[in-house]
Amino acid sequence: MQRKDELSLTGRSVTSLEDLSASEIVGLMHLADDMAKAIGLGTDHEPEGSPGFLDRILGLLFFEPSTRTRLSFEAAMLRLGGSCIGFAEAASSSAAKGESIADTARIVASYADVLVVRHPLAGAARVVAEAADVPVINAGDGTRAHPTQALTDLFLLWRRKERLDGLTVGLCGDLKYGRTVHCLAPVLARLGSRVMCISPPALRMPEVTLRKVVEACGERPREVEHLAEVIGELDALYVTRVQRERFASLAEFERVAGSYVLTPELLSAAPQGMLVMHPLPRVDEIAREVDADPRAAYFEQAAGGVPVRMALIAAVLGLQKLPAGRDLRGRDVPQRVRRPADAGGCPNPRCVLAHEPALVSEAIEIAGDPPLLVCSYCEQPFTQTVLAMETWT
Ligand code: NCD
Repeated sequence: MQRKDELSLTGRSVTSLEDLSASEIVGLMHLADDMAKAIGLGTDHEPEGSPGFLDRILGLLFFEPSTRTRLSFEAAMLRLGGSCIGFAEAASSSAAKGESIADTARIVASYADVLVVRHPLAGAARVVAEAADVPVINAGDGTRAHPTQALTDLFLLWRRKERLDGLTVGLCGDLKYGRTVHCLAPVLARLGSRVMCISPPALRMPEVTLRKVVEACGERPREVEHLAEVIGELDALYVTRVQRERFASLAEFERVAGSYVLTPELLSAAPQGMLVMHPLPRVDEIAREVDADPRAAYFEQAAGGVPVRMALIAAVLGLQKLPAGRDLRGRDVPQRVRRPADAGGCPNPRCVLAHEPALVSEAIEIAGDPPLLVCSYCEQPFTQTVLAMETWT
């Protein structure tokens, strides 16, 4: 039975951070702290020790490249005492033979107790969650969401700043295509922190994400083009890579590649206590010399991915409850109004709807004046013209 001071995620899927209440997110931070102690992360103490053998299997469905996310999920399950199965690229799965995402999900769900999915199409994690009868965790679906990265980002702030409210966080770089910032910006606002958006005009934060921030805190984020304008005001600077693989064409990518770089000179204007964060992989947007600066926190941030994922796996498998009743600040996401989609359906060629013919297109309303109608799978506005994608690598 669930106690009043506990929250349960047993059996639940997490395809977006909107699936979690503010107190569940904070509860996960507490549980991740316990997991970090158990594995001896960030302490001088000996690890408290792993729980021993766990008769549960994690299924990894990685249709897109990954280093940190896949390996930290694997490490997390092994640290919990469980086992992992799965594939690390679409080419080695039956997707290469034309199997639908839903069929693959149904099958692997019959071999495993929890699934983790990464896919290049926005909305794919939801399709997996709808097809599988075990909990599904989204490890990144197209440009839409990457909830466990955002939890990992919050965990660094939680440990280093000892709070998740009242912070000012600058999100810098490719805010248009970066799924990590699409998740992180609204959740920071929900938890009572302020977000600033720093990007070249061509890589601005999408309107839907800006609206979610307004919905959460009543304030539209400040948007600037140059880091120097705001770096002195930040508690944390979150730099992102230009998402080369998500651009419609090589020419579009080349127009913005290398357009922002965090250098030691730029960093000299930042507060002493500011954290430099990055979901990684880094390409050239943070100069290597910055690594030696005590504010560089990105490697520590990545290491926190293991206890965070241990906490989430343990919670959805029902092995652990989350502590509740503490830190009850923050807002939950309101129920969204659902509407039938336009006759043509979702126009985004990188929406999962374009590849899973059995799915029915549907719109959701994001509050504002006028409300924004977006596809309920990929969250791209229905009104926006999406250019046909060239195929290039
Ligand atoms: C991110 C991703 O895959 O979205 N990487 C990660 O999971 N840490 C960021 C990126 O690829 O730039």
